[in-house]
Amino acid sequence: MISIAHPDFREELFFEAKKMGLFSAERTLSESIHGVYPLQLEETIEIGGQKVTIRPAKPVDERRIQEHFYNLDKDDVIARFFHEKTTFVHDEIEGVSLIDYVKDLTMVALVGEFGFGRVVGIGEYLLDPASNMAEVAFSISKEFQNKGLGKILMKKLAAAARENGIAGLLAFTAPYNQGMIRLFKTLPYKTETHFEGDMLTLKCRFDKPASG
Ligand SMILES: CC(C)(COP(=O)(O)OP(=O)(O)OC[C@H]1O[C@@H](n2cnc3c(N)ncnc32)[C@H](O)[C@@H]1OP(=O)(O)O)[C@@H](O)C(=O)NCCC(=O)NCCS
Repeated sequence: MISIAHPDFREELFFEAKKMGLFSAERTLSESIHGVYPLQLEETIEIGGQKVTIRPAKPVDERRIQEHFYNLDKDDVIARFFHEKTTFVHDEIEGVSLIDYVKDLTMVALVGEFGFGRVVGIGEYLLDPASNMAEVAFSISKEFQNKGLGKILMKKLAAAARENGIAGLLAFTAPYNQGMIRLFKTLPYKTETHFEGDMLTLKCRFDKPASG
């Protein structure tokens, strides 16, 4: 409840909840509001005359995220998941739609009527607490590829990760995936690349700007 309350009322709610013994004495306000929906990441843009809403994913998006994955073509499924895949079951999709917006964040791009929108793009980050680096992954529907959508999702993920105290981003990709490599290099940070087996790892740190 604290996390969905207006920011002006969170402190008071937290104080009252503590008084009622609902939280231990050591719990801080920032710990209890983890999971707050980051409204500031919402944006509506236009691509090819179509309105595209970009926003953090919500639990209600589970079904449309699943449909997005089912509608990807075979090559894009392999590019995104690194192997052929024909089912996207509830447990896997839950990891994409049920997020805390801090350690893991999913951004979706939607077209269509409010409440009935179709997901045409997904960008996710997932924090590795040991390195404090977050892995990013993307899937853009074919008809929206190469139109700047990945770039907008990447920019928002990087801004949110930085804001959340994460040190930098990394991505794994096939070395022939020029779209992903170029997308990663649009970030204003120095990109390091190296091979891990037959996969390419792209890495950047927020304290290392591209020209520095
Ligand atoms: C790779 C992918 C995420 C790129 O997203 P996108 O929305 O198409 O990319 P954008 O339009 O924002 O373009 C980003 C940059 O990549 C370049 N680019 C995009 N697609 C490209 C392609 N197929 N070949 C070469 N460059 C490409 C753009 O020119 C742009 O670079 P620039 O700003 O220097 O000109 C998208 O094509 C996709 O979802 N592919 C299938 C799944 C996948 O490969 N996921 C990545 C692994 S997690």
